[in-house]
Amino acid sequence: MTAGTAPAPAPEVLAAFESAKGFMPTGEGLALYAAATEAAALGLPLLEVGTYCGRSTILLADAARTAGVTALTVDHHRGSEEQQPGWEYHDPSVVDPEVGLMDTLPSFRRTLHAAGLEEHVVALVGRSPQVAAVWGGRLGLVFIDGGHTDAHANGDYEGWAPHLAVGGLLVIHDVFPDPADGGQAPYRVWLRALASGAFTEVSARESLRVLRRTGDLPAPEPDAPSRTH
Ligand SMILES: C[S@@+](CC[C@H](N)C(=O)[O-])C[C@H]1O[C@@H](n2cnc3c(N)ncnc32)[C@H](O)[C@@H]1O
Repeated sequence: MTAGTAPAPAPEVLAAFESAKGFMPTGEGLALYAAATEAAALGLPLLEVGTYCGRSTILLADAARTAGVTALTVDHHRGSEEQQPGWEYHDPSVVDPEVGLMDTLPSFRRTLHAAGLEEHVVALVGRSPQVAAVWGGRLGLVFIDGGHTDAHANGDYEGWAPHLAVGGLLVIHDVFPDPADGGQAPYRVWLRALASGAFTEVSARESLRVLRRTGDLPAPEPDAPSRTH
C-alpha cells in the first residue's frame, strides 16, 4: 500500500468477489474492504449481518486473514423479503427443491472454498437478533447488510452495536437518503446511530456508510420489547 491510498484487495481476491453471486457493487466493496482492514487492526473479529452467497464476506475474510483475526457472518440463509419467489431479487437457483425454501448456505460455502478463505470465516446460521443475544465478545467491525425492513434493520443495530468496541467501525449498506433510490430503513438506522451520540461519520461511498464508535450507547428503554427474530 502506498501512503495516502486506501488498502485494496489483491487482484485474485477482487476477482473472486466480482465473480460471486450477490448484491454489492465493486466500488462499495472496495470501501468495505478499506474499512475492514482499518478495523481489523484493533485485533477483534469483524462481523457481517447478511451473508447471502458470500460476496461481501470474501472481502471481510481477506481483511481478517491479513490481520490475523476472524470474520463472522450471520444469516438464516432463507433470504430477505425482496429475495422471495415473485419478488425483484429472487434467484430460483438458490431454492432448496426438497424443502421448497431458499437456502443460500451451500452457495456461500462454495464461494468461500473457491476463494481459499474458508478458514478465516465463521458462519453463524440463525436470525440476527437471536445470534446477537447470545454473542458475548467485542467486535472491531459490524457490517449491517441484512433485512431491509425497519424491524430487521433496527434489530440488527440494537443487537450488534452494543458489541462494537469503542474505536470500531459500524458499516451500513443501502443507505438511501432519497426514497426514489431505494428503501429507507438502513438510512433511518444510519440517522439513529448518528443521533445516539455514540458514532461519528467516517466516510460514504455510494450507499455504503462508515461510522466510528466514539462513545457510549444510550441505555435501552426499560420497556423496549426484546427482538429475537
Ligand atoms: C442483501 S442480502 C446480503 C448481501 C450480501 N452481503 C452480498 O454481498 O451479496 C441480505 C441477507 O440477509 C439475510 N437476512 C435477512 N434478515 C435476516 C435476519 N433477521 N437474520 C439473519 N439474516 C437475515 C437474508 O437471508 C439475505 O441473505
